[in-house]
Amino acid sequence: MKNLKFYAFKEKDIENILELEKETSSLKLDKNFFYKLIESKSIYGVIIKHNKFHIGHIISSVVLDESDIIIISIVEKLQNRGIGKLLFKKLAHRVKIIGVKKIFLEVSIENSKAKALYKSLGFKKIGFRKGYYKKNNRKIDAEILCVTPKEIIDIMKKVK
Ligand SMILES: CC(C)(COP(=O)(O)OP(=O)(O)OC[C@H]1O[C@@H](n2cnc3c(N)ncnc32)[C@H](O)[C@@H]1OP(=O)(O)O)[C@@H](O)C(=O)NCCC(=O)NCCS
Repeated sequence: MKNLKFYAFKEKDIENILELEKETSSLKLDKNFFYKLIESKSIYGVIIKHNKFHIGHIISSVVLDESDIIIISIVEKLQNRGIGKLLFKKLAHRVKIIGVKKIFLEVSIENSKAKALYKSLGFKKIGFRKGYYKKNNRKIDAEILCVTPKEIIDIMKKVK
């Protein structure tokens, strides 16, 4: 896809992120959540824009040599075109430079699309959290997945 541009996360992106998350996820996030991460200087994120419009983001928190993916979303009409994978590639490069050795995330056992994406990027299941997510008063279990930045970078070298 042409005219895609990547940017490091900045405070001014928060409104766009929250707007997209309202459409794509059931997580209850607010501005304060981001301000706390910014204050603790632990936030690393990548924003992707198409013709200047915010079309996706990946946000992680980094503590010592570990990165935790907090959210990743792509606008619905542009999903399934490899953009999610590109965001991971950019993030993997950024966090590798600052010494991150492992990237972790939680995924709902019902989110088959996200699970397929993570599998294709080399993530491995390392744990399980019972009732981790809540959707319409229903508790949903989550898998904990892990990968190294190098594994993502190596896999993405094979992707056009
Ligand atoms: C999950 C999400 C970020 C993926 O982004 P995306 O840009 O659509 O993903 P990509 O196009 O890069 O897909 C890459 C991989 O995902 C899988 N995938 C994509 N679309 C799929 C579909 N419809 N069904 C199953 N797997 C699919 C494939 O494995 C694909 O790899 P391949 O191209 O090598 O076959 C996006 O669907 C999204 O924003 N979902 C809503 C928010 C969300 O669920 N976030 C994750 C929370 S843990």
